[in-house]
This record gives sequence, structure tokens and C-alpha cells, in this order.
Amino acid sequence: AVGLQIAIDGPASAGKSTVAKLVAKQLHYTYCDTGAMYRSITWAAMQHGLRLTDEVAVVALLDKSTIRFEPGEVEQRVFFNETEVTAAIRQPDVTNNVSTIAALGGVRQKLVQLQHQIAAVGNIVMDGRDIGTAVLPNAEVKIFLVASVSERATRRYKENLTKGINTPLAVLKQEIELRDKKDSTRKISPLVQAKDAVLVDTTSLNIDQVVARIIRIVQEKE
Ligand code: C5P
Repeated sequence: AVGLQIAIDGPASAGKSTVAKLVAKQLHYTYCDTGAMYRSITWAAMQHGLRLTDEVAVVALLDKSTIRFEPGEVEQRVFFNETEVTAAIRQPDVTNNVSTIAALGGVRQKLVQLQHQIAAVGNIVMDGRDIGTAVLPNAEVKIFLVASVSERATRRYKENLTKGINTPLAVLKQEIELRDKKDSTRKISPLVQAKDAVLVDTTSLNIDQVVARIIRIVQEKE
């Protein structure tokens, strides 16, 4: 690929997409939210009433569909075929089912293909769970973003309130722990820190501090 690749991985609600977006903006890089892809196919499978472990059916649906991003005012807009799913894919039912779909090898294969196409333009910031380990193993910059479960649940809680979602904090904490467990223990491309990734613990850092730290790491590579 031409230009630098920046891979940002980590557990749920560690602030990956918030930070990745800001890093991309500051560097004039392309941002790719791979979680949104897994969320989109999960949303669609639920809409079609598919059994979420039915790999053949889910892959068949993905095969005849398109997932694409468009720049938006506040956040990137996400489309599954011609339907905008930007808000729908953040709803709790999708969030709580996405790890099941993300464990399907056929789904991962398809979405990684799409991720490679997007990354081929170069100068890319991509966030997810397996970017540094599986999708872009040669990325020049790899960040593993973590924070305590309590801190992550609190952040998600505040973010949810702005979207009119009011899942109790204690429930969110359980959901986050369960999703991390599923993502870390699946057979294919589990969530794990790449050997050459830099661990950034954001528990007591604000967004600007995290962005500044990542930009510094990038500058050392340039
Ligand atoms: O990052 P986000 O919370 O949007 O990711 C949603 C889910 O998608 C994760 O919990 C995980 O199951 C799946 N995912 C994945 N690999 C990625 C990105 C997301 O398995 N690269």
C-alpha cells in the first residue's frame, strides 16, 4: 500500500472510533470503521429473520449486498444496500448480537476483503479487533487501546444518553464484559494485542491526550 497504515484495536467502548476519527482528520487520512461493517450485516441478518449462527444464509445475504460509507456532518454515514443504517447499527439489540455474526469465518473473509480494498488507497486509519493481527499485519503503526471496564461502561452510558438509549450502567458493564469475552475467545481472528502493538491505557486520559499520544507515535514512524 502507499502511505502509512494505522491499526487501532481494542475491547468494546475503549474509544477506538472516537480517537481513530480524530487521528484521521488531523493527518488527512481515510478512516475505516470495521465494527460498522460487522454491525451492518448483523442488522440485516436480524431484519431478514435469519438464524445468526446460520453461516450459509448470512454469507449468502452478504454476497448479494453492499456496505458503504459516506462522509456525514457529525459522523460517517453507513449504508447497507440503499438503506441508511447509521443509527440502527448502534441500537442495543444489534450491539448484543454482533459478536455472534463476527465469529462466522465466511463473514470475516468477505469483510476483510472489503477492508483490504479500502486500505489499498493508503494513508488509512482502521479500527476494529483484528486489524493489527489479521487485516493489516504490516501496518506501520499498531495501537492497542484499553481502559478499565468501569470507565468504558461509564463512557458508553454517557454516549447512549445522547442517542436516547438508557440501558442501566450495571447492565452495560455486563454486556461489555460478555462481548469482550466472545470476541477474545472466538476461533478466527480473536481480539488480542498484536506483538508489535503499542498498548495505550486510556482510563485516566482524555480524548485529546490519547489523540496526541497516537500522533506522536505516528510521527516517529514518518
Ligand atoms: O467496534 P465495534 O463495537 O463497533 O464492533 C462491534 C463488534 O464487531 C465487535 O464486538 C466484534 O464482535 C466485531 N468486530 C470484529 N472485528 C473487527 C471489528 C469489529 O470482530 N475488526
